[in-house]
Amino acid sequence: MKRLFLTRRSFVKRSSAGLAGAALATAGTSSLYANLARNADKLAILGGTPVRSKSFSQPWPIFDDNEEKALLKALRSRNWCCLRGDAVYDFQKTFAKAMGTRECVLSNGGTTALSASLHVLGVGPGDEVITTPNTFIATINVITNMHALPVFVDIDPDTGSMNADLIEDAITEHTKVIMPVHLAGFPADIEKIMVIANKHNITVVEDACQSVFAEVNGKKLGTFGTTGCISFQEWKSLVSGEGGALLGSDEDVMRRCAAFVNNGRDPKRQKRGYPYPGSNHRMTEFQAAVLTEQFKRFLKQDALRQENGKYVEKKLCEIPGLTPRKRYAVNTRITYVEFELDYDRERLANVSASKFAEAVRAEGVPVSGGPRRYGRGCHREGMLEEHLNSGAFRAAFSKARLDKYRKSLRFPVMDDETPSDKEMLSMDSKIAFLGSRKDTDDIVEAFAKVTKNIDKLT
Ligand SMILES: Cc1ncc(COP(=O)(O)O)c(C=O)c1O
Repeated sequence: MKRLFLTRRSFVKRSSAGLAGAALATAGTSSLYANLARNADKLAILGGTPVRSKSFSQPWPIFDDNEEKALLKALRSRNWCCLRGDAVYDFQKTFAKAMGTRECVLSNGGTTALSASLHVLGVGPGDEVITTPNTFIATINVITNMHALPVFVDIDPDTGSMNADLIEDAITEHTKVIMPVHLAGFPADIEKIMVIANKHNITVVEDACQSVFAEVNGKKLGTFGTTGCISFQEWKSLVSGEGGALLGSDEDVMRRCAAFVNNGRDPKRQKRGYPYPGSNHRMTEFQAAVLTEQFKRFLKQDALRQENGKYVEKKLCEIPGLTPRKRYAVNTRITYVEFELDYDRERLANVSASKFAEAVRAEGVPVSGGPRRYGRGCHREGMLEEHLNSGAFRAAFSKARLDKYRKSLRFPVMDDETPSDKEMLSMDSKIAFLGSRKDTDDIVEAFAKVTKNIDKLT
């Protein structure tokens, strides 16, 4: 593709209405436009030639001979269950070390890891667990399945994470656990949440299912709470089809978690029989064999995502109106599994984030735009009322308490009752940031092209 160097002056001249151009020029963004192609004046959404003719989609998960050999080895060993093989228990040690925690227990999913945590921490009928409505439903299912109430706090409009400043108001004598969710590789306000939890002597279970290897002040997510849970389900960044990990450093809690996923057997084999409550949530040797190989791959992928992610973020944030999504702590490591930027439409010719994203998508770069919400919120899902109406809930909670709870299910930010001007752009960068420098430059070019021509989208 032939490139045309656009000086700041020629760029301003070329911008038809000059609206976006003027704003961008004053912000000194000329470097961003230096590599724009000759045909950069006609957006693909309006019939122009896209920046990329080939989309970023490549098959996921990625595997090669290493995973195939590991799977065959497990198959031929005839030790398909972890009670006879080594892969599950070996990976537990590898992962605990990599995550900087004393212990790791593998399970057959992130959901079962969360549910084992709640069981072991004694959550049961009549209890309350404070969490966020802005999450995947599994976070809530594990609470309601214990016949406990998920007590939601509204979200921070800047991040979509649970607003830690609202937690203290939600604490009651029934609060057993606080369960923050680290969405899409971005940490929740975990340090503040830990201070509040410690002050009130409440345990924290971190749902870090989407955020493996994200960090705050050098500490990996999932290692702040009494337990932290990771998912290896196929669409995450470290995968084994299905699978999960419980992380923790409290010896007794972790012993009970290991027992819980293995029908109550003592992992230390010091107590005979089935001394602990439990069920069967074991990971198979096949999953662990794949996971072990995927983890080696993940370490390289993660390093590449970091490099490409930081590069793209720095470049794109030269565009007035695009800023990095707020981090709660200065020293925060996001994972670039999902890449998100704050979007200020006032500085982008009043074009909505969704329209901007549509134009970037037409250029061949997979981006979506809109408010910072994960659907309409778990508090609005039908499963909740089904639970509240069930015999188990009616036995565990008084009618007055359930009625009060129903009335409490309104959250101004999450429900968009006071429509927020906070919008974001979001990209499934798990794959897109595994490309070459040319690929990442294409991403930058697509954004630059749309910004340069933004007045044509109005
Ligand atoms: C926030 C969150 N919590 C829990 C889970 C459940 O993990 P799994 O699918 O491994 O059971 C997921 C999976 O998507 C998730 O995104």
